[in-house]
Amino acid sequence: MKQLLEIKNFLLCDTPQEWVDVAIQNINLLLIDHAHCEKKAASTAMSLIYRYVDRSELLRKLSQLAREELLHFEQVLDIMRDRKIEYRHLTPSRYASGLRTLVRTHEPARLVDILIVGAFVEARSCERFDKLAPYLDEELAKFYRSLLRSEGRHYEDYLRLAELYSDSLIDDRIKSFAEKERELILSKDGEFRFHSGIPEKF
Ligand SMILES: [Fe+2]
Ligand SMILES: [Fe+2]
Repeated sequence: MKQLLEIKNFLLCDTPQEWVDVAIQNINLLLIDHAHCEKKAASTAMSLIYRYVDRSELLRKLSQLAREELLHFEQVLDIMRDRKIEYRHLTPSRYASGLRTLVRTHEPARLVDILIVGAFVEARSCERFDKLAPYLDEELAKFYRSLLRSEGRHYEDYLRLAELYSDSLIDDRIKSFAEKERELILSKDGEFRFHSGIPEKF
């Protein structure tokens, strides 16, 4: 898959095997956090739609994206119901808030940065779905491979929108976020989550 190669290039590191080992031992927790992530992805897209009403390409793309994320949310809920996994609140991982510390506060820089963060979240999700699939049961592997495709598209949409709304090249911004992202993925993390770093205590 060409896009997966591009995504692996975009990210500065692969998911460490330590994270994969913990994930496959904690599938229930992974699914609960995954459900939260899909819901959060829809809600992030919705808040951009509320805030940037004058950006027509953004409205169209992110409205579509929000619908897809809610569909993914329902698909995760179905799998959880079939497996009798109860949905519950979880503290969010440090990942998105860690990336957001780099977001500039003036416009349109703020918008461009938030869109770049969106591209990283989607890209890392895509990479992790691919990484996990070989270790999962058939149903979950099939589901994760199907998600990999749509999150790959979302990565592309976010990146295109960031380019569209920036008044200069975004390469330097991508580089700053990429380095921060690598640090969040490769450092020890007190929590295990879908986007966590290397879990410490599992
Ligand atoms: Fe999704
Ligand atoms: Fe997505």
